[in-house]
Amino acid sequence: MTQPSSQDPTQLRSYRWFGPDDMRSFGHRSRIKGMGVDDIDYQNRPVVAILNTWSELNTCHSHFRDRADEVRRGILQSGGFPVEVPVMSLGEMLMKPTTMLYRNLLAMEVEEVLRCHPIDAAVLMGGCDKTVPAMLMGAISADIPSIFLPAGPMLKGRWKNETLGSGSDVWKYWDERVAGNLCDQDWKGIENCIARSAGTCMTMGTASTMAAVTEAMGMSLGGAACVPAVFADHHRLATRTGRRAVDLAWENLKPSDILTRESIENGLMASLAIGGSTNAIVHLIAIAGRLGIELTLEHFDELSRTTPVLGDIRPGGRFLMEDFYNAGGLPALLARLSDLLHTECRTVGGVTLGEQIAGAESIDDDVIRTRDNPVSPAGGTCLLKGNLAPNGCVIKSIAADPKLLTHRGPALVFDNYPEMKAQLHDPDLDVTADSVLILRNAGPLGAPGFPEWGMLPIPKKLLQAGVRDMVRLSDARMSGTSYGTCVLHIAPESAAGGPLALVETGDPIEIDVPNRRIHWDVSDEEIDRRRQSKQLGTLLPERGYGHLYAKHVTQADRGCDFDFLEGRSPGQEPGIH
Ligand code: FES
Repeated sequence: MTQPSSQDPTQLRSYRWFGPDDMRSFGHRSRIKGMGVDDIDYQNRPVVAILNTWSELNTCHSHFRDRADEVRRGILQSGGFPVEVPVMSLGEMLMKPTTMLYRNLLAMEVEEVLRCHPIDAAVLMGGCDKTVPAMLMGAISADIPSIFLPAGPMLKGRWKNETLGSGSDVWKYWDERVAGNLCDQDWKGIENCIARSAGTCMTMGTASTMAAVTEAMGMSLGGAACVPAVFADHHRLATRTGRRAVDLAWENLKPSDILTRESIENGLMASLAIGGSTNAIVHLIAIAGRLGIELTLEHFDELSRTTPVLGDIRPGGRFLMEDFYNAGGLPALLARLSDLLHTECRTVGGVTLGEQIAGAESIDDDVIRTRDNPVSPAGGTCLLKGNLAPNGCVIKSIAADPKLLTHRGPALVFDNYPEMKAQLHDPDLDVTADSVLILRNAGPLGAPGFPEWGMLPIPKKLLQAGVRDMVRLSDARMSGTSYGTCVLHIAPESAAGGPLALVETGDPIEIDVPNRRIHWDVSDEEIDRRRQSKQLGTLLPERGYGHLYAKHVTQADRGCDFDFLEGRSPGQEPGIH
């Protein structure tokens, strides 16, 4: 499509639906008018879609009805025609087996909804984990001007005298509960206090990580990622985003104009510098894949070796998102990294990333550390490779016990999640603190859907003995709010015939994070013998979306997109017939 000249309505995409003097366009106009819309409301104005992932089953987006109205106000202020369009909501808490199973479905929906309607620009309203990459992936493939509005984190939890972080403190206090250290009343008290408002998890979980990545890549307004969901500033952010969306339509500033290899690297560095979720790696590979950019785990590891962790935010650090916002938020953190970033990259705000972060200052060096006092000088998340993970696996080393980053111990293997759940707290379980817990059949195909099971619980008898971390390995993901010495995303996964399928209880396993190595100390001959004698693979669903998913999902190291959606979309416009 050609670049619209400044405010020439005949160059707008929606003009093809509404402009011509023919029978089909008459139908479009008359039916719009049937909704009570007048010529002055929409003619010669950009149609801006508000893609809203609101649902009463998505606890993190409960404020989205109000925010959609505020986006609408901004669109009207700038002379656009707002249309609210509901799209699938992926609420991490209530959706089973895992929202990751449906990330690609929402991405497909966003792409098709944008392409098939008279839409000149879109505001993408998401927040809860998978909604962010899904909406970006869809908008990239449709390549229609789009701006992301993050849901924002919820308020800090508060129980008795303690500040609670969603997710992270659930795991922590559940361990105490299992160990017998927390009574019913206290457990109920935590349940009542840990989620105090609308918004996404307020630790640096996947939602906040992906919001930060989106801002660093230039797909949301400067400062958007950290604004708490119920602050007045979030209301204003929504209106500002709506106003800017109208400009994007006139400028025809598309995702392909913003997102480049360099801007993706900015997103990656932001994710590393905030001590972000390991899930961001999978999503960024998939996002880059939609642009035809190959991003590898090695590339990620290279950046990890040079990017310091400056955000002291849970679960890798001490503070919560509200503290991060109060300290200056992402612009202040990025300003401290500006020599590493590609500051010339464009953003949806109409300025470069460098201009966007210029002058941003941290006002709390405990939360946003200085370069000479980082949380970690580098390597917050690391890639490991070896005979157990030929295509790689990852570990969030800043959230692990440093003593366990180099470890050798005997495997204790669970074939699947139900088996693990049934056996883990058995007082007779043959396990010590040196054991390496292994869960398989938990990857993209095996579970299916690549669930967040990678932070395997510590066995009860070890909890009671005071153990709070041990080495755990799986082909699963883990929640961004999780922590511990958990090796994740082992590729290829066991259900796809990866070596993990052949490990037996008692096999020696080594991890050596400083040297980026994982090793299964069993001879090649023995591995071959096991491969010959074991039936590998998994049964695939025979119908529906599950069938499509299983046939086409790629492995973790390729981002788990569908193979037929990778690469730049040819961007074919629908015929108006
Ligand atoms: Fe929605 Fe954590 S459950 S962001």
